[in-house]
Amino acid sequence: MTTPTMDPVLERPFDGEALVGRLFEQTLGAFELFNVYIGDRLGLYRALADDGSATPEQLAQRAGIAARYAREWLEQQATAGIIEVDDPAAEEEHRSYSLPDEHRAPLLDQDSLGYGAFMPRYIVAVGAAMPALLDAFRTGDGVPWGRYGDDMRQAQASANRPLFLSVVGQEWLATIPDVHRRLTAGPPAHVADLGCGEGGLSIGLAAAYPLIQVVGVDADPASIEAARRHATAANVSDRVSFELGDAAGLGRGEPFDLVVIFEALHDMSRPVEALRAARELLSPEGTVIVVDERAADAFKGIALDDPIERFLYAVSTTVCLPNSLAEQPSAAVGTVIRASTVDRFAHEAGFASTDILPIEHDIFRVYRLNPS
Ligand SMILES: C[S@@+](CC[C@H](N)C(=O)[O-])C[C@H]1O[C@@H](n2cnc3c(N)ncnc32)[C@H](O)[C@@H]1O
Repeated sequence: MTTPTMDPVLERPFDGEALVGRLFEQTLGAFELFNVYIGDRLGLYRALADDGSATPEQLAQRAGIAARYAREWLEQQATAGIIEVDDPAAEEEHRSYSLPDEHRAPLLDQDSLGYGAFMPRYIVAVGAAMPALLDAFRTGDGVPWGRYGDDMRQAQASANRPLFLSVVGQEWLATIPDVHRRLTAGPPAHVADLGCGEGGLSIGLAAAYPLIQVVGVDADPASIEAARRHATAANVSDRVSFELGDAAGLGRGEPFDLVVIFEALHDMSRPVEALRAARELLSPEGTVIVVDERAADAFKGIALDDPIERFLYAVSTTVCLPNSLAEQPSAAVGTVIRASTVDRFAHEAGFASTDILPIEHDIFRVYRLNPS
């Protein structure tokens, strides 16, 4: 008799009924996320927050949507516990709905570390790219970042935005004394942000360090266009510029005092080339910081009790691995980038050693790559 495989969380052999229950819960979650997406994209939460409680007709008027859809969405949101209803027993057209104060920041405050309304955009973006993904699984080709569209770019930018605005410059770099000293001293330090996406880190660093000059580089044209718009809106375009191109191809001007690669090394087809280029761009005292996913040290098998590892794998198959395979040859890293992989890439790129800095974050690990 063979011993059945045990599910370490349920502490019983794999259970088909439990799996169906789990799939139902996750399907429910996905449908509810689509409704959050609708509320976010159509400004329905904003309309409730700015002008107070609303009947279906009032919400429809304020947001410019059809009244019948407004009514169904409001009922759905109340049923899901996202908004409040004054009197569930009232006539359907006369019920009034409001946004609880506790849900304002998660749904509306993009600068808050507690913001969450961007999350459904990932799901919508992956759904839209699914035909290309299925082809990629069959052929081994990739799916470029741009194929996931604005929803993916904006979800990514929103996910890290509060960290860029108030944590990386203000807290993380301040714990690295020589880097902090250089960024605060004159002459102005030069910083490169490779794989900058919509430029949130470049802009956040410029705000935290008023002397520095930052160049962000990304291979995705729409990201660079958005980054330039954001820099102008943030009034830092005199010190922050963006270049379209490969991270490994940033032209040499002034050497860089700091090169940062934030949540992008694992997406790059040729990460060793990017790191080698980063090393060659440095001034004699310059530093390379890589921030990437806090993946476990090794594959764990079943990891139902580790939502981060599960999240990284689920994103890897659908976004980051296909993204890194979009150019060939490719190291085909994927989201689950382990500390040993970063260390190996750094050595192959000519760095003498890699330190993992004592900076705590649920998702990210911060590496310092030492040129000598
Ligand atoms: C997950 S996003 C991270 C963006 C940004 N650093 C952030 O944290 O929000 C990865 C980015 O890397 C960019 N990228 C991937 N390969 C690249 C390469 N070889 N050169 C420049 N950018 C690259 C993608 O276009 C994408 O914008």
